[in-house]
Amino acid sequence: MEFTEELFYFFLIIGSIIFIMVLFYTAYFSWKFRQKHPEKVPPQKKDNTLFELGIIGVAFILVAIFFGYTVYGMESIQDIPPDLEPDLIITGHQWWWEIEYPKDHFYTANEMHIPKGKRLLVRFNSEDVVHSWWVPQLARKMDMIPGQDNYMWLEAPEEGIFEGNCSEFCGAQHAHMKIQVRVDDSETYTNWKIRQQEAATSSGDSLFLTGKGLFQTRTCASCHTTDPNNKEPNIGPNLAHFASRDSFLSNTAPLTKKNLEQWIKNPEKLKPGTKMPNLVLSEDEVTALVHYLEQLK
Ligand code: CUA
Repeated sequence: MEFTEELFYFFLIIGSIIFIMVLFYTAYFSWKFRQKHPEKVPPQKKDNTLFELGIIGVAFILVAIFFGYTVYGMESIQDIPPDLEPDLIITGHQWWWEIEYPKDHFYTANEMHIPKGKRLLVRFNSEDVVHSWWVPQLARKMDMIPGQDNYMWLEAPEEGIFEGNCSEFCGAQHAHMKIQVRVDDSETYTNWKIRQQEAATSSGDSLFLTGKGLFQTRTCASCHTTDPNNKEPNIGPNLAHFASRDSFLSNTAPLTKKNLEQWIKNPEKLKPGTKMPNLVLSEDEVTALVHYLEQLK
């Protein structure tokens, strides 16, 4: 049993005992001291100082035990040796997730992959306001605080797609800051990792080249990079393998041609409050950009 589970059952059992005692004595005394002679005023009991102090003492001791046990638990689950390099660095942004694999030197966004059954050290931080990373089926919550590194062990016992959401209010799109963790078997993970480390390969057709040029000249590149090994400018998500993901807008919209066109034409409409400006692009420019982005696999 994990310590957090142990702590939960400890609280549950002690709490249940107290709850049952309160119910029992409430019922028992209601019956025992029920009104037997309506005409008479019942005898008035005097204060019992010793009894009252005793009750306060018992409550104090119980709270002290809960407190001590919790603090001990916090220490024991945070058993992170100093100077240990993290396997993953997850940074919260308004409103997307930056994911860095420092040991393999690449970056991605929103959709993260991890190998099954491997204990990973994750470092959390935030670029702007407080966010909170939470995938309930995989791990506990972890706050992401600007300027403060928080650490957590993450280990997924089973393959699958695990979803979560930011759980600390962080502005207009807080509820649309979905997390997606894909737990792969070791071979699938390795293949994914190798692909992610290299730049996307493309057909290099003329529309692709037009789109690629527009990505630079129409200032997309001031916020996004398409280099998997480079973080900057890091204002918007890393798009190196954008088209390899199933969804975008922090995992809230399926990655389809239509959604992508709508997004580029008017970002504010799909994601109110977004930092991505409306660049008032022509239909041809949108077509070329979408064609370019769709090849970033
Ligand atoms: Cu990020 Cu709420």
